[in-house]
Amino acid sequence: MNFKEPSENRMETDKKILPTHIAIIMDGNGRWAQKRFLSRIKGHEKGADTVRMVVRTCREVGIPFLTLYAFSTENWQRPKKEVAALMSLLKKFLSSEHKEMMKHEIRLNAIGRLNQLPSDVQKALEKTMHATENNRGLVINLALNYGARAEIVEMVQKISRKIEKKELDAGHIDEKTVEMHLYTSGVPDPDLLIRTSGEMRISNFLLWQIAYSEIFVTDTLWPDFTKEEFLSIIDSFQKRSRRFGKV
Ligand code: IPE
Ligand code: IPE
Ligand code: MG
Repeated sequence: MNFKEPSENRMETDKKILPTHIAIIMDGNGRWAQKRFLSRIKGHEKGADTVRMVVRTCREVGIPFLTLYAFSTENWQRPKKEVAALMSLLKKFLSSEHKEMMKHEIRLNAIGRLNQLPSDVQKALEKTMHATENNRGLVINLALNYGARAEIVEMVQKISRKIEKKELDAGHIDEKTVEMHLYTSGVPDPDLLIRTSGEMRISNFLLWQIAYSEIFVTDTLWPDFTKEEFLSIIDSFQKRSRRFGKV
């Protein structure tokens, strides 16, 4: 055969396809601060600037979905002062970024056990989610009091209730049913998962959704993560061959 198979042509264009959904484990704020003999809280404050950069870059490049791991179900076990600082930083961030989110058509959606967050944080989140719900430029899923195992437990509870009420037949449960009952219902799975600070672990993040995500771990601490490095990771993603079990 001396002509190109259609599938070969498709592969060439696929390489240039941008990720539809980027998920990030933003790690290393504490170590960034400790290296400078500052309190861990200063590291979180500096990390907020990186969040701003990443959001802007996604908007510029045209990434439709961004999921940020901001607070895990395990993070409550940190010192009270640090937890309180993270909550207050989050509230400050929601209000300082309000204008920019509206201007750049950014929709904020929080995922996790939100009802266990402090009530003022819940109120601020509800306000932002409501104000941005019609924005169509970029969807940010902010993972707060998020744990993938908690998400899976809740999914099982929601499905079981439907079975009890005879709204669903157990034999008809498939992967789509599971997806529809996760916090991320309606959001495509992440194509690209980035973790900063070098740890080779998932730390209870999106266990179901990352089944086929491309993983990039960088040693850079989150507050030091730059636009250049972010763009170079997106560039390397485009050079990877995603086979999804095929040849
Ligand atoms: C990530 O940075 C932020 C949160 C988990 C809230 P860390 O605070 O985990 O920083 P390290 O890992 O201690 O350096
Ligand atoms: C994961 O980071 C959670 C967030 C980034 C919010 P951690 O610092 O909590 O994870 P471990 O403890 O290193 O696994
Ligand atoms: Mg950490």
